[in-house]
Amino acid sequence: MALAVHFHDQTRQPHEASLRDETLAGFGATPKRISPKFFYDRRGSELFEQICVQPEYYLTRTEERILADAANDIREIAGPQTDLIELGSGASRKVRLLLEGLRPVSYLGIDISEDFLLTSTQRLAADYPWLEVHAACADFSDELTLPDNFTLHHPLVFFPGSSIGNFTPLQARKLLGHLHEILPPGGGVLVGVDLVKDRTLLEAAYNDRAHVTAAFNLNLLQRIRQELDSDIDPSRFAHRAFFNEVDSRIEMHLVSREAQDVTIEGQRFHFDAGETLHTENSYKYTLESFSHLASSAGFDCSGQWTDSSELFSVHYLQRRQ
Ligand code: TRP
Repeated sequence: MALAVHFHDQTRQPHEASLRDETLAGFGATPKRISPKFFYDRRGSELFEQICVQPEYYLTRTEERILADAANDIREIAGPQTDLIELGSGASRKVRLLLEGLRPVSYLGIDISEDFLLTSTQRLAADYPWLEVHAACADFSDELTLPDNFTLHHPLVFFPGSSIGNFTPLQARKLLGHLHEILPPGGGVLVGVDLVKDRTLLEAAYNDRAHVTAAFNLNLLQRIRQELDSDIDPSRFAHRAFFNEVDSRIEMHLVSREAQDVTIEGQRFHFDAGETLHTENSYKYTLESFSHLASSAGFDCSGQWTDSSELFSVHYLQRRQ
């Protein structure tokens, strides 16, 4: 059976060059850092799917419950004949909660992990034969490029998982500003946003007892070792995640267990014992602070849903006329 996924590969990024260049730049910076988008090779994408079902990781199941409950409201705001575009579509699982209710004309999944994207969208096409399914492998963290000849009739951008929290507020506003540019008036963005809450709950979510998040974080180093010319040894680093209240974000680091030198592509980098490589931020908003951010990027909030404990939120943003 031919599975009808329209694959747009003109948006594909030069992954290897960017992993190499960005790794060298990040390891050379003070403090050391690396872009979190490199988490998502196939193994990383699989580990992330496992994070989503950890008991401490309330984000995914809470968002799914909110989406299921809000499906009718969302349909009413969006209207018929939408073109659904998902940023960071991963396993394309959450979107299933919207498909039956929304009945969009088409779905475009955009993700940085190419083979994962293909498997996921093929499965989606098989399960929803009435849906026109597109896939584009792209890094939307710099610039969101839609496939050539991709016409937007009634676009609704779906950006779940609080991935917007993985951008700084400034970058998030830039991304929304960019969506504002490419969307027609009335175009929508349905975005999942994690909320500020008690730090114990927040920190537990990023320090699950099964150590899946630790494995996910450390997989970055494994990837550098495999894909670049490097002697970096993941077992000499430890996972650390904590809530930085001042900046309202979870910070994820890899801590050097000892003083060591690592070599990447012929360049040597020194780590002091306890020195960290900053791998990820996950910003937490209040309902007000997020609405404010969206408004400053030219969007009105036409729907806002939370769970009863206000752990997580989903926002329907509409491009201002
Ligand atoms: N968007 C998710 C979040 O901020 C991504 C995520 C979850 C993540 N756990 C992680 C990213 C661990 C890096 C490491 O919650």
